[in-house]
Amino acid sequence: MAGAIVSGATGEATPSGGAPSHRGGVHWVKHPLVEHHVTRMRRETTRPSEFRSLVRRLAALMAYEATQDLLTQPLQVTTPLCETDGVQIKGRIGIVPILRAGLGMVDPVLDLLPMAEVWHLGLYRDEATAQPVSYYDKLPAKRPVDVAMILDPMLATGGSAAAALMTLREWGVPQVKVLSLIAAQQGVDAVASQFPEAQIYVCQIDPELNSHKFIVPGLGDAGDRIFNTI
Ligand code: PRP
Repeated sequence: MAGAIVSGATGEATPSGGAPSHRGGVHWVKHPLVEHHVTRMRRETTRPSEFRSLVRRLAALMAYEATQDLLTQPLQVTTPLCETDGVQIKGRIGIVPILRAGLGMVDPVLDLLPMAEVWHLGLYRDEATAQPVSYYDKLPAKRPVDVAMILDPMLATGGSAAAALMTLREWGVPQVKVLSLIAAQQGVDAVASQFPEAQIYVCQIDPELNSHKFIVPGLGDAGDRIFNTI
């Protein structure tokens, strides 16, 4: 998919194969399909069933973009006619949905990466302080995955994404990607400066947060819209 914008990128250049280096920064996925589906997702009248479908569609489009730099290794297979050389994804991939809303993005990403491990993190944003509160984390002490993909439809202040990134840093994950469908400029700036090595993928960056730290124009609360708990 062409058209991703990388801003604030740091770290080493993306390899063409071989060295496990990667490029941190903010990748705004610009594509007509993405813009079309984001617009429908924003709409107040979009019902939860359609909202869930839009989340899945956008998560798949974004995952395609976000997996461009995954490393591969050779794999020989036998077709009905002969042997041939192919490849398979190298290393352990961890999908890390942030409960609850991140659950809505798991299935489409897992469809593309069926060999991935799924490690849930429970975080909610305190309504009064807008600070993330951790309530579920069963990451093992050792053997971190090689690449982690944090899934959360929304990145507002960036506090929840930063908390998840800190948890994965402590686990020892060498490469972490954050996939958020809609973000506030302030939030992506905060996360990118705090975690310059992180690869942050977004479908949309909105200009501001309101006094309740909601993204404006945004789409409301993704978790409530996915699970019909408005
Ligand atoms: C929302 C959203 C993110 C977080 C973003 O979750 O899904 O996790 O807030 O805000 P931040 O960038 O300011 O941290 P919420 O707390 O509503 O929980 P939910 O997923 O259970 O609805």
